[in-house]
Amino acid sequence: MEHIYPIFDKMLSRSDKEALLGQRGLMVWFTGLSGSGKSTVAIALERELHSRGILCRILDGDNVRSGINNNLGFSAEDRVENIRRIAEVSRLFVDTGIVTIAAFISPSNALREMAASIIGKDDFVEIYVDTPLAVCEERDVKGLYKKARAGEVKNFTGISAPFEAPEHPALRLDTSKLTVQQSVGKLLELILPMIKK
Ligand code: ADX
Repeated sequence: MEHIYPIFDKMLSRSDKEALLGQRGLMVWFTGLSGSGKSTVAIALERELHSRGILCRILDGDNVRSGINNNLGFSAEDRVENIRRIAEVSRLFVDTGIVTIAAFISPSNALREMAASIIGKDDFVEIYVDTPLAVCEERDVKGLYKKARAGEVKNFTGISAPFEAPEHPALRLDTSKLTVQQSVGKLLELILPMIKK
C-alpha cells in the first residue's frame, strides 16, 4: 500500500505480550442459531477464565453490531462484511495474547473459513452451539422468531435464511441438554491446555 510505512520492526511482538500476560492468545469462535446460547456460554466462559487469571475479550452482537458494524444488516453481503470486520478486530486481540471469544451466528462454512483464515487456522477453535431450532424458537428471547414467522423480520437465520452446520467443530454444545456450567467445563478441558504458557 502506498504511503503506509511498516513499523513492525519497532513494535513489540505477540510473544512479548504473551510473556507479559503468561498466557497464549486464542480465538474461541462460537457459531449457532439466534437464541442457541452462544452469548450466555461465552459470558460464563469468560468469567471462569478471568477468575483463573486469564485475560479475555468477548465480541458479540451487543458490542459489535451496535458499534463498529452499526451500518450493517442481515443480507448475505452484510453478513460477510460483519464477520470480516469481526475477524480483523479479533486478530488484533489474539495478537495481543488475549483469549478472544466471538459469539456470532456466522451461518455458513464459507464465513467461518474466512474468519479462520484472517485470524490464522492454528489460533482458531470452532465451537458449535448445536441447540435445536425448535428450542431456540421456543425460547425466543428477543421475540424475533415470532416476527420472522409472521414475515415481519426478513432473512432470519433458521427460518427464512440458511444455517449451515459446521462439519468438524472442535466441540459441539447442545444447551438444551447441558447446563451452562457443564458447557463451560467442556470448554475448559479443550481450551486450558491451549492457552497455558
Ligand atoms: S451473523 O449472521 O451476521 O453472524 P450476528 O450474530 O451478527 O449474525 O447477529 C445475529 C443477531 O441479530 C440475532 O441473535 C438477532 O438478535 C439479530 N437479528 C436481527 N435480524 C436478524 C436476521 N434477519 N437474522 C438473524 N439474526 C437477526
